[in-house]
Amino acid sequence: MANRPLNVGLIGGGKGAFIVHPHQRAIHFDGTRRVTAGALFPDPKIALEEAANWPYPIKGYESYTAMIEDQKNLPANERLDYVLIVTPNHVHFDPAMKAIRAGIPVFCEKPLCLNLQEANALVKAVRRANIPFGVAHTYLGHWTTRLSRYIVRKGLLGTVRWVDSYYLQGWLATKLEATGQQQATWRTNPKLAGGSGCGGDIGTHALMQLRYVTGLDVTHVSAQLERFVEGRPLDDHFTIYCQLNNGAKALVRASQICIGYKNDLGIQIAGTKGTLRWRQEEPEQLTIHLANQPDRVYWRGAITAGDGFLPKDARLDALLTEPTIPSGHPEAFHDAFARLHRFFEADVRKWKAGKKFTSDGSNYASIEDGWVGMAFLATCLKSSAKKGAWTAMPKL
Ligand SMILES: NC(=O)c1ccc[n+]([C@@H]2O[C@H](COP(=O)([O-])OP(=O)(O)OC[C@H]3O[C@@H](n4cnc5c(N)ncnc54)[C@H](O)[C@@H]3O)[C@@H](O)[C@H]2O)c1
Repeated sequence: MANRPLNVGLIGGGKGAFIVHPHQRAIHFDGTRRVTAGALFPDPKIALEEAANWPYPIKGYESYTAMIEDQKNLPANERLDYVLIVTPNHVHFDPAMKAIRAGIPVFCEKPLCLNLQEANALVKAVRRANIPFGVAHTYLGHWTTRLSRYIVRKGLLGTVRWVDSYYLQGWLATKLEATGQQQATWRTNPKLAGGSGCGGDIGTHALMQLRYVTGLDVTHVSAQLERFVEGRPLDDHFTIYCQLNNGAKALVRASQICIGYKNDLGIQIAGTKGTLRWRQEEPEQLTIHLANQPDRVYWRGAITAGDGFLPKDARLDALLTEPTIPSGHPEAFHDAFARLHRFFEADVRKWKAGKKFTSDGSNYASIEDGWVGMAFLATCLKSSAKKGAWTAMPKL
């Protein structure tokens, strides 16, 4: 086991699928994980055809149920070490539950599932099984997100007063779903996507970015879920004013109708000593503004501790020595996914060896983080139905 790559099984990913591909590249990034099996499509015949046509050999299954059940028939070195769930939101809960019950770790796409009831059941099951579980909040995997987290949590910006965490896109500015476009069709259908469209799809990323970087939690929301495209049953514009647990305020906002915006996730954090700004479309750099000082732009791979802002300490040393390619060789989306799979692999290996593992949200989003995302959506739906009335978040 120590020397063999981990075996990963895909759930979803056939016929024009999107996010499976960045994931499967990221799984292969280090040579220590590989995709060996897949249940790639809801129709059993097409699922097998898609697996036979996969760009490298994998074992195809008619369904994820068959793939999970087959594990007990296989020799230990051929069994799946974890499954990756890359299906639309309505097909997260059932395969995740089945895998957990079969003792297979799960890396699941966001949002965690369809509603808070499903999220409650998943948290219970993961805790009972004490098994690694990760949620694919991609942008936590950027090295600069990890540096931002260090800076804010270390108090280098002072006390956080205000956060603007946003995710703006323009691809749903027209009724794309009417053309049958695959990704738009299920994302705008409440039965397949959940109670919030834009909020579930990308607002949850903006929330997670805020929570991961600042370590703060949302306690109350005043939410406006709006739809600009006529006839669309779900929100395509999601604006949430938030109270945070340290007394700060935040805006968690997302939109899919902003023409010209591609994948503009970003965060701005204003503290009593300074402000941090970061955007995922320029993920190699982050900017720090301090009062009466020139702006500081920090580039991944070109950072010196003890420069008058970044102190010298063990936590920063650990970050700075984390293996990355030298500066000027740009890291981006795939590297972020690879970092998440790398940390998840480490936990799966520890768990398999009977050692303590830490699916605790410090390196990738945890089951509890997934739950908070679903609780946030449920609370925003309630608040928006009451014209933005301040509404308290439930506690896990
Ligand atoms: N982390 C990110 O940055 C990110 C980006 C895009 C999508 N996502 C999430 O990833 C998930 C998939 O999104 P997508 O855009 O790739 O969707 P997609 O429509 O491109 O792909 C979904 C795949 O799931 C398959 N599928 C559906 N039901 C299935 C079943 N019962 N069994 C097996 N396969 C089944 C489909 O055939 C398709 O191959 C969603 O939950 C979405 O929110 C996350």
